[in-house]
Amino acid sequence: MKNVLLIGAGNLGRRHLQSLKNSQKPIRIFVVEPFDEARALAETAFQQAASELPEKVASFHRSLDEIDQTIDIVIDATPATGRLIILKRVLALGAKDLVLEKVTFNSVSDIDQAGALVEQHAARAWVNCPRRLNPFYIQLRSVLATASFSRFEVVGENFGMACNAIHFIDLFSFLAGRHVYDISLAGVQDIVPSKRSNYIEFFGVASGAFESGPEFKIDCRESTSGVKFKIRIVTPINEYLIDEVAGRVEVTDRDGNTEALGFRQRYQGELTGPLVDAIIQHQQCGLTVFSESMALHRPFIEAAYALYASKYKENAMKMVPIT
Ligand SMILES: NC(=O)c1ccc[n+]([C@@H]2O[C@H](COP(=O)([O-])OP(=O)(O)OC[C@H]3O[C@@H](n4cnc5c(N)ncnc54)[C@H](O)[C@@H]3O)[C@@H](O)[C@H]2O)c1
Repeated sequence: MKNVLLIGAGNLGRRHLQSLKNSQKPIRIFVVEPFDEARALAETAFQQAASELPEKVASFHRSLDEIDQTIDIVIDATPATGRLIILKRVLALGAKDLVLEKVTFNSVSDIDQAGALVEQHAARAWVNCPRRLNPFYIQLRSVLATASFSRFEVVGENFGMACNAIHFIDLFSFLAGRHVYDISLAGVQDIVPSKRSNYIEFFGVASGAFESGPEFKIDCRESTSGVKFKIRIVTPINEYLIDEVAGRVEVTDRDGNTEALGFRQRYQGELTGPLVDAIIQHQQCGLTVFSESMALHRPFIEAAYALYASKYKENAMKMVPIT
């Protein structure tokens, strides 16, 4: 029986936990969450999640100090600030497989130290950018592999550019099969407090390009309406307009004929159990491999910190408060 440690049982951690109940394997789950209310909510959600599948034993803890077992797999769903300390501690508990949330680290120094630690402990780690698991994007990737394409765009409102840019950069990288890129945040006009206290959000335009193409743009405006955005991908043959919120894709050819397709991104509550099963069975999963994700985090975090420091104050850690 594998020991799985879930650290951080807030909004997303609770979904990871519910999904763990649907793992096909018998697993022992240790949940570490210091906030009493969040821990109680997670425990209730776990008990209420129906499952006919093999036995799951879960225990709930305030602190990592209470964990005295060797841990096999870690899911870290805490905020970015503080994740490096957690990484050090879970590697010391013997963990060899780790799924880390995005934004994984919010300083270049943490990215570099984390990379060295993962390597030193010969651990396998992945970052939870789950669009890579979506059958539509997997199929689109194989279509784009044979079509030279010039441009990606995400244009919309209120989708959280600072905290979600890495999801889109990860998707562009996945679809293009490249992970070296430049980014400019010169078009970001506003830096505002995030709904999450002590973090910030951006409004405006991020633009960049992968080495030898394609170019990309992430454009996020503030409005009084809710979250909306569309992803546009341009190839010489087709234009894809993906509206994840509405669950619809429009594919328009050169003659202007449009075909409409359905789109569905699975919830985290459906993803984590199968991911853990893949890790147990194959020591791999479809999420972004850690070293690749750090190569994607680095230019964005560097640019985000430079922007933040130019408008606020520099800090010794060169940390930009995004998560
Ligand atoms: N991959 C995705 O699609 C996706 C979606 C949503 C959120 N996220 C990311 O997941 C992370 C968590 O987001 P959230 O919305 O669940 O936040 P949240 O604030 O609801 O939950 C975070 C939890 O971590 C706990 N925590 C903080 N420090 C801890 C520590 N040292 N040990 C144990 N627990 C600790 C907090 O008490 C809190 O309950 C963020 O980095 C966020 O960006 C990713």
